[in-house]
Amino acid sequence: MVERPDILLEFDAVDYSYPLSEMPAIQNLSLQLTAGQKTALIGQNGCGKSTLFLLADGLCRANRGVIKSRGLPLRHDRVALNQWRQRVGLVFQDPEQQLVAPTVAADVSYGLCNLELPEAEIAQRVEQVLHQFGLSELAMRPLHQLSLGQKKRVSLAGVMALRPELLLLDEPTAYLDPIQTRQFLAALTQIEAEGTTLLIATHDLDFVYRWADWLLVMDQGRLLLEGTPEQVFSRPDLLELGLGLPLLKQIWDSLPADLRQGQSPPRTLEQLRLAIRP
Ligand SMILES: Nc1ncnc2c1ncn2[C@@H]1O[C@H](COP(=O)(O)OP(=O)(O)O)[C@@H](O)[C@H]1O
Ligand SMILES: [Mg+2]
Repeated sequence: MVERPDILLEFDAVDYSYPLSEMPAIQNLSLQLTAGQKTALIGQNGCGKSTLFLLADGLCRANRGVIKSRGLPLRHDRVALNQWRQRVGLVFQDPEQQLVAPTVAADVSYGLCNLELPEAEIAQRVEQVLHQFGLSELAMRPLHQLSLGQKKRVSLAGVMALRPELLLLDEPTAYLDPIQTRQFLAALTQIEAEGTTLLIATHDLDFVYRWADWLLVMDQGRLLLEGTPEQVFSRPDLLELGLGLPLLKQIWDSLPADLRQGQSPPRTLEQLRLAIRP
């Protein structure tokens, strides 16, 4: 039975400790991700963001608690996991951890082959995602010849070939230069436009402020707080975490009160310009 068709991912009181580790990496974590909501996950290094993603994709197994998508619990047998990963896709921070096959096309088809789809369907989907992510010309290229930005796009294409409804991205722009970052974000915009819901773990608070509808803040394996970016970045306890604040928010808060009065805080430069135009 589907209890909450709009909840694409739910954690209910999840605990997880890595083998041989004394400190739990995730503690009593409960959260819900709603379809269509752009959610960002922030928190210091080591707070448990990547572990949350590994649990959500079934790569780690919770010691306690339940993980669900659309009301259906995650199960760890091979068939159930393959089905789960068609719904919930994960792009690792480091593409080297994700890429498995010798060439671009082979890598992008890897997940599809696991699903035992007809060959013609696999070929058609591979061609489509290679085209979508600007990789068609690199199809036969060995992965080790690619730039990091290209490798990131290959790992994204491999996950999107499965057409997940929820895409988890672990620090997607880490290690990328500004041009690669722009290309990657453009690819994400396209994915969103096609109806995939995104959860992005990132340290880029300026991006979070402009992009996210909802923010999850983790600390030491727990969910510390959640809310809209405006709510979260106005919370004094966030400052204690030392994550900093988005530049736009700092600029806005430093403007004279009468200029800001009656206006909602701008989330983009363009909105700031309009807000302060005499
Ligand atoms: N493979 C592992 N074995 C043992 N402990 C780990 C492993 N990976 C991460 N941890 C620990 O789990 C905690 C959460 O780490 P992680 O999920 O990587 O945080 P984040 O992604 O927010 O930086 C940290 O204390 C980290 O040291
Ligand atoms: Mg991490």
